[in-house]
Amino acid sequence: MTNTLLVTGGAGFIGSNFIEMLVADRPDWRIINMDALTYAGNLENLTQVEGHPGYQFVKGDVAIREDVARAFDACGSDGQVSVVHFAAESHVDRSIAGGLPFVMANVVGTQNMLDESRARGVHRFLHVSTDEVYGSLGKTGFFTEETNLAPNSPYSASKCGSDMLVRAAFHTHDFPTLITRCSNNYGPYQFPEKLIPLIIANARENKPLPVYGDGMQIRDWLYVQDHCEAILCVLEGGKPGDVYNIGGHNEYPNIEIVKRILKQLDKPESLITYVKDRPGHDRRYAIDAGKIERELGWTPRYTFEQALPKTIEWYLSQDEWLQRVRSGTYREYYAEQYGSDTPSV
Ligand code: NAD
Ligand code: TYD
Repeated sequence: MTNTLLVTGGAGFIGSNFIEMLVADRPDWRIINMDALTYAGNLENLTQVEGHPGYQFVKGDVAIREDVARAFDACGSDGQVSVVHFAAESHVDRSIAGGLPFVMANVVGTQNMLDESRARGVHRFLHVSTDEVYGSLGKTGFFTEETNLAPNSPYSASKCGSDMLVRAAFHTHDFPTLITRCSNNYGPYQFPEKLIPLIIANARENKPLPVYGDGMQIRDWLYVQDHCEAILCVLEGGKPGDVYNIGGHNEYPNIEIVKRILKQLDKPESLITYVKDRPGHDRRYAIDAGKIERELGWTPRYTFEQALPKTIEWYLSQDEWLQRVRSGTYREYYAEQYGSDTPSV
């Protein structure tokens, strides 16, 4: 029997890393990648898997039910179909500029995925969520799976909405869902609007490095490959109806990240430019990943000391990729976000 996996949002940062891992680790699986190819989706991220016999791309929007149905048609009818649902609008700053696209992709899109998945008798449905649904921590403590949800941005609120719909599908329809909530990822193919790739891209060109507020906000960083392995682990071994937090105990203030990148690139700290803080900016995220470690035996393989330099090296070697993804609509977004006096990319 063929195992088929429908991956949504597989042309984005984490989804493309996930598909690349699957092709190597589960070579006999059929993988259907459904993606709307928004500004964040890039098929160039998947050139290594294009020739794989079990891989197929379907362009489609999860907020459109007919598109979702077409993606399921491509899954065929022999064997079990499972779903890993990454597709989402994912950038907090864009959600502050306008929340509606987040409701469409993240809330409406997730309900469509759930409805069509139930109609097709999907074996397991894994929803990729985020630690941002828990809101902000004080100086101490960690997010556990029992922490109350308290989203502070339109992005995290829309992810919260999708989590609640997934929870409801399990409780109301006995539909086998799983939810993962991971901390901030970094690694190859991340769109350079997010902190780490943005700082690398600007620093290498001696451009100002925008640090919001006092730069002392803390994020808990996880290398994308560790996240992908955790997702596969939950897909295969997780208990339906459960939530699994994913993180690597790698808490750093933003300014420390920026300084580390500058040090590796041998660039001056004078490039650091403190800019107006993000409205509603969460102060600290930190994950307690004890449940996935205890119950499923997952632990991260990479430390920040190993994987940050590796990530910087990757961006340095990907000049053309960087130039292409930073063209077009991203330029307009950058000018809007950081003002016309900041050099455009
Ligand atoms: P990304 O923005 O890089 O990629 C999102 C992908 O989804 C893109 O390929 C885009 O084209 C696609 N997409 C967007 N709207 C769509 C729609 N309506 N229909 C179909 N496809 C659509 O995001 P990412 O960083 O890879 O995040 C993937 C998932 O992981 C998201 O659900 C996000 O909330 C979650 N997550 C991300 C992080 C992180 O640090 N990046 C951490 C935890 C959880
Ligand atoms: P980001 O990569 O947008 O992830 P998230 O907001 O989902 O955690 O931002 C990571 C942290 O870096 C966050 O505290 C905001 C901060 N930040 C800056 O200081 N400057 C920037 O230009 C960006 C994009 C983010």
